[in-house]
Amino acid sequence: MAIQVHIETYGCQMNEYDSELVKSILVNRGFALTDSFGRSDVVLINTCAIREKAHQKIYGRLQQLKRERALRSSRLTIGILGCMAQNLKQDLVDGHDEVDFVAGPDSYRHLPELIDAARGDGEPSAALGAAALKLSTTETYTGVDPIRSGGVNAWIAVMRGCDNMCTFCVVPFTRGRERSRDAAGVVAEVEALVRDGYRQVTLLGQNVNSYRHGNVRFADLMQIVGDVPGVERVRFTSPHPKDFPADLIRAIAEHPKLCKHIHLPLQAGNDRVLDLMRRTYTHAEFRALAAEMRDRVPDVSITTDVIVGFPTETAEEFEDTRRLMEDVRFDAAFIFKYSERKGTYAQRKLPDDVPAAEKTRRIVELVDLQKRITGEINHALVGSTADVLVEEAVERQPGFVSGRTDNFKHTILPGDGIEIGDIVPVRIESARGATLCASPIEATAGASSNYINQKDSP
Ligand code: 5AD
Ligand code: SF4
Repeated sequence: MAIQVHIETYGCQMNEYDSELVKSILVNRGFALTDSFGRSDVVLINTCAIREKAHQKIYGRLQQLKRERALRSSRLTIGILGCMAQNLKQDLVDGHDEVDFVAGPDSYRHLPELIDAARGDGEPSAALGAAALKLSTTETYTGVDPIRSGGVNAWIAVMRGCDNMCTFCVVPFTRGRERSRDAAGVVAEVEALVRDGYRQVTLLGQNVNSYRHGNVRFADLMQIVGDVPGVERVRFTSPHPKDFPADLIRAIAEHPKLCKHIHLPLQAGNDRVLDLMRRTYTHAEFRALAAEMRDRVPDVSITTDVIVGFPTETAEEFEDTRRLMEDVRFDAAFIFKYSERKGTYAQRKLPDDVPAAEKTRRIVELVDLQKRITGEINHALVGSTADVLVEEAVERQPGFVSGRTDNFKHTILPGDGIEIGDIVPVRIESARGATLCASPIEATAGASSNYINQKDSP
């Protein structure tokens, strides 16, 4: 009987996609996939290393797996994949006897051999072990057809790695140098996705807008993908502000299939801190870019990432970030406390000197601010219309479905006669924090009463 493999995925969308690649590689070599941990012979944990919290979560899961393995009568092989594997390497195997092998993000083609070796004589050979942690300058998993889990959206990695070397970030160490896939391969994959019924594709890369293959740049790729017949929506994540030429903004503004949502990671709003982070832009340049996007792309929504408590960031410098967020008014923001990562410039050269309580004060302040702004922006949308791509039934509200507007607003609406994957014209009835409540336009009068008793607050 085929060996049963169970995969658990932590972290970002790129990891989700990589797990889909891993599934394909294994199934093609005769392994079977199982959703059930209990029935598995092999558990693969696809890990994240971006912040210490992610590490802690995975260490917690490993302790659990160790206990569960001890209770089993049959053999259980445990492999660690992804960024934490690449970052901690041999330490992870040496320090955790429940771990049989590790494999970094560029080594998944070796997984069948690694699993066989671990199940045969107990441990992969030293040569195989080393290969499993080699970063590549060329691996893009061309020819591997991801096994996706369905739904309306499909991820497609169009480039891998990051050459930016932001001083806080471990990604360049765990995922290596930038490399892009050829556009023809991406288009063929998108065509296949349309045939399989996917409505939306999201182009992925650690630094996705630095995509370049031959003469094809990211703005070209977005348009080529948007032109594939049958594709309804094209999104991308995560870009860097330094790679936002006017033609990319124009493409987003003009191509009907390119979604009017831009995730634009800020990180900090103070020039000294931005410089120390090696972000390569000033706060004024960032503000100008965001203004240009708002100017050129009607109804665009802009979201961001922010780090508080970067080494040496003073309270006054933090105020610059707060002010920038007040001025730019992002639609939403992911806000993180700085977390020191092994091997980064910041860890080697800078003191992690903002006290924990001060990091907490700063994050609470920004989260509160952003909640207010998100509420205000969404409240102002009440009465307007939008098209929602329906993604799923709302578990806690029977009879309702949820999805996203073109500009990425999470929206719920009555599900009568609506199928997952439909694009439904709606009127926004109310806003509840980050969620919009809407009614299909044809049924506005009747359906709007569904929301009458719900709190309509920012
Ligand atoms: N500490 C805190 N946040 C980080 N990020 C990346 N590295 C760190 C770190 N060391 C955040 C950045 C990035 C997002 C994906 O994670 O804001 O944009
Ligand atoms: Fe990390 Fe900066 Fe690369 Fe993003 S652009 S993955 S933050 S190094």
